[in-house]
Amino acid sequence: MAKQVKNEQMDKLSSLCKRRGFIFQSSEIYGGLASTWDFGPLGVELKRHVKNLWWQDLVVSREDVVGMDASILMHPKVWEASGHVENFHDPLIDCKNCKTRFRADKGTFYFKCSECNLNFRVNNGFLEMKDEFKKYFDAELFAEEPDHYKSSDCPHCGGKGTVDAEILACPKCGSADLSDARQFNLMFKTHFGASEDSASEIYLRPETAQGIFVNFDNVINTARIKLPFGIGQIGKAFRNEITTGNFIFRSREFEQMELEYFVKPEESQKWYEYWVNERFNWYKKLGVRAENLRLRPHEKEELAHYAKGCTDVEYKFPFGWSELEGIADRQTFDLDQHIKASGKKLSYFETETNTRIVPAVVESSAGVDRTILTILADAYWEDDEHNRVVLRLNPQLAPIKVAILPLVNRDGMPDIAENIFHDVKKHMAAFFDQGGSIGRRYRRQDEAGTPFGITVDSQTLEDGTVTLRERDTLEQIRIPGDNVVTILKEKIA
Ligand code: GAP
Repeated sequence: MAKQVKNEQMDKLSSLCKRRGFIFQSSEIYGGLASTWDFGPLGVELKRHVKNLWWQDLVVSREDVVGMDASILMHPKVWEASGHVENFHDPLIDCKNCKTRFRADKGTFYFKCSECNLNFRVNNGFLEMKDEFKKYFDAELFAEEPDHYKSSDCPHCGGKGTVDAEILACPKCGSADLSDARQFNLMFKTHFGASEDSASEIYLRPETAQGIFVNFDNVINTARIKLPFGIGQIGKAFRNEITTGNFIFRSREFEQMELEYFVKPEESQKWYEYWVNERFNWYKKLGVRAENLRLRPHEKEELAHYAKGCTDVEYKFPFGWSELEGIADRQTFDLDQHIKASGKKLSYFETETNTRIVPAVVESSAGVDRTILTILADAYWEDDEHNRVVLRLNPQLAPIKVAILPLVNRDGMPDIAENIFHDVKKHMAAFFDQGGSIGRRYRRQDEAGTPFGITVDSQTLEDGTVTLRERDTLEQIRIPGDNVVTILKEKIA
């Protein structure tokens, strides 16, 4: 069944990530902490490359954007003003039979067949249903046409069903004995200072964006920038998510790369369209295949009351099309809220008209971890012809750029290889490996996504040349051993 194949793909990806040192479950030796992840030696490099590329493309290389780095801990009034205290909720329902707690938010549909009584829950790309029904569900079809199961006949018996936004039964055990929906705020609370009373309660930020809005005045007064301009930030965010899972797709601690781009209110549509386009192309630049990317403009009913437009960049994950990033025209809402709550001006002085205006903001909000999952899922390739698993990572993103390998462990080859390794290491991430068969060593590097291999062999002893192996094509050419750095730099650029 398609569903099993797809799950298998996520399992294969997560086990490769563990095996090669990309991603580990947090606190694993104590049984793990759900939906929190640690990035290992290769994962941390991949993450750095993603963040560096974002920073380079959205901040450093642009004349109209500056960066900043705000605290994770902020004044609790920030979250009242932003609307998070009041609105950042998930409605939760408890199953009184099996005690499962599940989310019952808008956009959740429950299919109930009136003939065979099958019921399942379809929720924005995720499906939760009783195990015995899973075999009637085609995940591939759902990924292609998420609406299919919202309107079709019962996938089990072909009988007529109804699709409703009402809770019909527990997605785990099927019991209809459920509690009413209760609101559950997703912000993590902690205490500030020594006392632990409610007056000292503060939140771990659920998004980085507010750190930018509250510093609006500080930045315009110091950076001498003119509208339109952006403020970019990369940092941790925390959400006590109820529906977690799908590896690092939705976790409780994650990183965001956010750009708040301030514009004249009458120009917001133009800039919104500009950023939707820019951001879509950015993922293609990372090497993500275009056919696995799409833009999904939000329906009117999905939009927050203040937003004029919002478009998600979606990726076709092994579990279906899902959000990678959101681009939104938020109008003047955020600054207006902080003006009201703080009593500060937070406006921009327009010299041409000699007036103060509150700029509108177009936001691009991307997840570092989701970008990494996208890159890994897109790069994963089972090369059956050569019996190997390959991560076809863009060389610029690859954690290790080159593996330096002596063909055999004798005749002085390890020493020559080690000298090349020391030389290359000054310029790029390299790995020296002399243990085991050459085939096995190549395969390990293929799985790590290392784009190039340099092998020192018997011909090196004669003429000083080495073999350069390309990961994806398996093409091998000979190059001078003293020219390795220059040639690799050309190939990676
Ligand atoms: N400032 C707007 C904002 O935070 P969002 O749609 O809630 O918007 C933006 O989040 C992006 O952050 C998402 O598109 C996703 O990439 C990432 N993200 C949000 N929640 C996440 C979670 N629990 N785990 C991993 N990434 C998450």
